[in-house]
Amino acid sequence: MREATTEIIRRLDGLVPKLALVLGSGLGDLVDKIENPIEMPFGDLPGFPQSGVSGHSGKLVAGTLAGTQVIMLSGRKHYYEEGDAAAMRFPLQVLKEIGITHVILTNAAGSLQNDMPPGSLMLLNDHINYSGRDPLIGEESDARFVPMVDAYDPEIRKALEDAAAQVGVHLHHGVYIWFSGPSFETPAEIRMAKMFGANAVGMSTVPEVILCRFLGLKVAAFSIITNYGAGLAGGDPSHGETKEMAPLGGERLGRVLEYYLKNLV
Ligand code: HPA
Repeated sequence: MREATTEIIRRLDGLVPKLALVLGSGLGDLVDKIENPIEMPFGDLPGFPQSGVSGHSGKLVAGTLAGTQVIMLSGRKHYYEEGDAAAMRFPLQVLKEIGITHVILTNAAGSLQNDMPPGSLMLLNDHINYSGRDPLIGEESDARFVPMVDAYDPEIRKALEDAAAQVGVHLHHGVYIWFSGPSFETPAEIRMAKMFGANAVGMSTVPEVILCRFLGLKVAAFSIITNYGAGLAGGDPSHGETKEMAPLGGERLGRVLEYYLKNLV
């Protein structure tokens, strides 16, 4: 861990970002908004997991966005790649070490509601860990018993809601349910997820939220709705559709984030 931490701090060249954004499938374009970007391919950072998922480019980019120093992780490792729910523990731990206090996660997700069409933005207020996998299995300290009430930081959520209202972006709120993937859900599973009270479905984010809370990082998360869940309103999701549709919501997300960052004290 020391090696990656030292390398990042050296390349940051005096920048001390407090906020990190983790970009989901098809959202990599957001790094283009960073001024004076410093790019660090994960391959240059010893121990950083490289993702093999198309639409995830695999680099850390630091710089300024709307007057605030930020780090973006473009490309995240998923549980479904190698069956490791703790795949993102190392990079999140390194972010903590370099002084990050706030993490905003983003993901592409399927909608479970007819009134939340593709292109919508949903701010997560809770989740259901339907995969049953936990990134803290094997952790031996008592810190593993992480409380999960208000895991999605109420203060950050409020600020993001205000930002969305200010820039005129309609923000949905809801519960994200984590299916392990990589196969998409069946229509029967989508009907079940709806009955469970979930609003959006996806293959990431939940393990990272658990890890952030374990590490004492404040966290918030957005779903970019790229499709209706399987069988809902004709939904028949594919990875191609995810990559094609994500930039639509990504543009809205960019506007919300810029306002949020500009007004961050
Ligand atoms: N299901 C799971 N993951 C997803 C979906 C979906 O419908 N869309 C984008 N990621």
